[in-house]
Amino acid sequence: MRHMGLNSVVLVAVVFLLVATTVPIKAETGATLTVHVDSPGAVINKYVYGQFSEHLGSGVYGGVYVGADSPIPNTRGLRNDVVAALKELQVPLLRWPGGCFADEYHWRDGIGPQARRVTRVNTNWGGVPDPNTFGTHEFFDLVELIGADAYVNANMGTGTVAEAAQWLEYMTGDQDTTLVRERRANGRDKPFKVAVYAMGNETWGCGGNMRPEYYADQYNQWATFMKTSQQPAPLLLASGDRDGAATDFTEALLENRRARMDAISMHYYTVLGPRWENKDTATGFSEKGWITILANTLKMDGYIKTHDELMTAAEKRLGAEGSADADKIGLYIDEWGTWHQPEPGSNPGFLVQQNTIRDAIAAAANLNIFHKYADRVQMTSIAQTVNVLQAMVLTDGPKMLLTPTYHVFHMYKPFQGATSLPVGLRTGDYSYDGVSVPQVSASAAKTLGGEIVIGLANLDPHRMVEVTTIMEGMVATEVTGEILAADAMDAHNTFDAPDAVHPVAFDGARLADGRLSAHLPPKSVVVLKVK
Ligand code: AHR
Repeated sequence: MRHMGLNSVVLVAVVFLLVATTVPIKAETGATLTVHVDSPGAVINKYVYGQFSEHLGSGVYGGVYVGADSPIPNTRGLRNDVVAALKELQVPLLRWPGGCFADEYHWRDGIGPQARRVTRVNTNWGGVPDPNTFGTHEFFDLVELIGADAYVNANMGTGTVAEAAQWLEYMTGDQDTTLVRERRANGRDKPFKVAVYAMGNETWGCGGNMRPEYYADQYNQWATFMKTSQQPAPLLLASGDRDGAATDFTEALLENRRARMDAISMHYYTVLGPRWENKDTATGFSEKGWITILANTLKMDGYIKTHDELMTAAEKRLGAEGSADADKIGLYIDEWGTWHQPEPGSNPGFLVQQNTIRDAIAAAANLNIFHKYADRVQMTSIAQTVNVLQAMVLTDGPKMLLTPTYHVFHMYKPFQGATSLPVGLRTGDYSYDGVSVPQVSASAAKTLGGEIVIGLANLDPHRMVEVTTIMEGMVATEVTGEILAADAMDAHNTFDAPDAVHPVAFDGARLADGRLSAHLPPKSVVVLKVK
């Protein structure tokens, strides 16, 4: 292990002996993974590793933006520690300002001198005042500081087509117009770059409780007027279905598409269920909670498959008709992650939750699924970046910690822009109290540097598994890896022990006679790099 003094080593040895004598580690199991290096699939769009920052609780104010006169070290009001952590994570795309918040957000409230900005009530999240000191310019300052692209969500709920079109001109215009002059007067000469522009959010619910056909018409009207000279033009995104099981918005959008539509979104959160209201605690949960959260996470696969099939069928139909709209459109999972009960004592409207090794494994399992559908899932954003739901980073005043989910995203960085490789996986199940999941989750890709990267997770909290990997079309000569693992099912980082769960070099992989084997401890995520 890295960074360990002698005392720590002795302590670990003692803990290991105690654990070894008190907790029986059940017999090792086996799994076989075949990686088809010889038949590469689609490129994993780096936007699959996108993030979401909403005006929600301390997701922006306090967590990211503290104001230029804060004692917390900052750059133009943006926390230096959080900016550094997100830059290190190589966040490719950041979604803002919501979520439900987006459909009550008027962009003019958030431009110009901060002292003159209006304060409004955030009706969706806790009913607290939003001072609008974080607006368009501050958002682009953030994305440019962390090296990300911008995903902006327009307000269809309480806004107008003109307001959304003018926001786009304000952000991206390059001619001598009144709006561009206003942007320049507010301190930004060259245009901002908008990578994704979304027309509304969750229009089936907080975004307006619309019928699918009504929204499809609205989308067509709005998308028609989102004009910009920016090249390439922002990807235009339609708001899609609520969870993977529903398909009525996707179907209505595919059926009635008349304006440019680069992608349709889908939101799927993992909750304990079976009802939405029934959330697990983020820590201190039972083994039933452990397996149920993981089983519900894996439902993402079937939901994507269903939407992919609908999209493929629509594209075939349009292709047969010779339509110019037959091009493949993306499925953007622009809200996903675990949604647990709020932390005791926190404002329930702020959606603050701890983040454990269970969340880390759920993240790895979802990422493995996204890689499998790389040709269709071209963007995702986990909810949310800081202090909200399945966060990367938690803050408490001047303190900051990195969550286990952050570490998984860090370990999985080589997958960004890599070429997905089909995998065949033979694994046994892990079962508990009537629920079963495959013990192992896996995906593989060929990185831009030519290495093979393999993401693995052992969902079983008790049994180690030996994964034997066959590399079809490649003779492997070298393997290295990183592991994130923990003893307790709810192991997590706290402000007193911010490094309790962190990745270390993995020494459980062996290459012999071209055969690659890896011993995954219970409750672990491993990323291997193979040459
Ligand atoms: O991420 C929190 C909320 O979940 C978003 O604002 C909304 O779109 C979804 O229901």
